[in-house]
Amino acid sequence: MSGTFPAVREQWRLRPRQGAKRDLLSLHDLTVEEMEHLLRLAAEVKANPGAFRHALQGRSLALVFEKPSLRTRVTFEVGMAQLGGHAVYLAPADVGLGRRESVRDVARNLGRWVQGIVVRTFGQKILEEMAAAAPVPVINALTDLLHPCQALADLLTLQQHRGRLQGLRLAYVGDGNNVAHSLLHAAARAGMHLTVASPSGYEPDAAILAQALEVAPTTGAILRVIHDPTEAVRDADAVYTDVWTSMGQESESEQRRRVFASYQVNADLMKRAKPDALFLHCLPAHRGEEVTDEVLDGPHSVVLDQAENRLYVAKAVLLALLDEVTA
Ligand code: CP
Repeated sequence: MSGTFPAVREQWRLRPRQGAKRDLLSLHDLTVEEMEHLLRLAAEVKANPGAFRHALQGRSLALVFEKPSLRTRVTFEVGMAQLGGHAVYLAPADVGLGRRESVRDVARNLGRWVQGIVVRTFGQKILEEMAAAAPVPVINALTDLLHPCQALADLLTLQQHRGRLQGLRLAYVGDGNNVAHSLLHAAARAGMHLTVASPSGYEPDAAILAQALEVAPTTGAILRVIHDPTEAVRDADAVYTDVWTSMGQESESEQRRRVFASYQVNADLMKRAKPDALFLHCLPAHRGEEVTDEVLDGPHSVVLDQAENRLYVAKAVLLALLDEVTA
């Protein structure tokens, strides 16, 4: 069937490396220019959705989700439809990834029917195994380690509200989790000044921080991991937080509530940032824990813009990765 449908425009695509298909497993796999390209494409898709209406006509996408989702599932499904393609959602019970059938076999089967696979799972290794076996691009829709599509939407949001990313001061207050990890990768590539404040023992993964620090000197990014939330938000242009207990950590929630109690983003903490500092959260939020209603629903909150921007990022990622129809 190759050639039956219009080709995806070359200028939208990420270049294959050594002839191999491209996946999006981690922002660390992208060059500075490639991340800029995705952000530019997302902004273009937002500004001019009609121009992309038939771009993925005839293509199909599988969404293999082992964890719940609102934003990621809806934005990839709606994004694919708005690009003229079709998405199939597979819930945890449908596939039984690694239980009913091996990850490798699932990937190889899906590759015979669809042009891309979006995966939300636990271990990054599962995602990597999927990508290694699948003949089509695999996109990380969140693992325990990383959440690259979220970080792209976060940067798009900051860019749209502040007109630039270079030198922007972002404070991330809370758990050194998958969202913090992808923000480190993203901030390093964007030349931002990101300070992460986490309790001792809950800092970002040292290997992820090292990856980000490798890139930072090439863009002028300044990345810091500290323990004091007040110090982190001082003069910040934007303050970001996420839940204290991520999916899969529910048994630790009581302990985490105690450990993170002084890391709540509330009006007092926001006063230490710049007077017009933005508030970001990837959502869903646990109101009254990591953030108060006053901040989440306040005039500086851009959380719904972040959620909206997930759609444009999903569309940009699909345009950049999905290949010709081969099945
Ligand atoms: N932020 C985010 O990934 O939301 P969902 O878990 O609802 O997809």
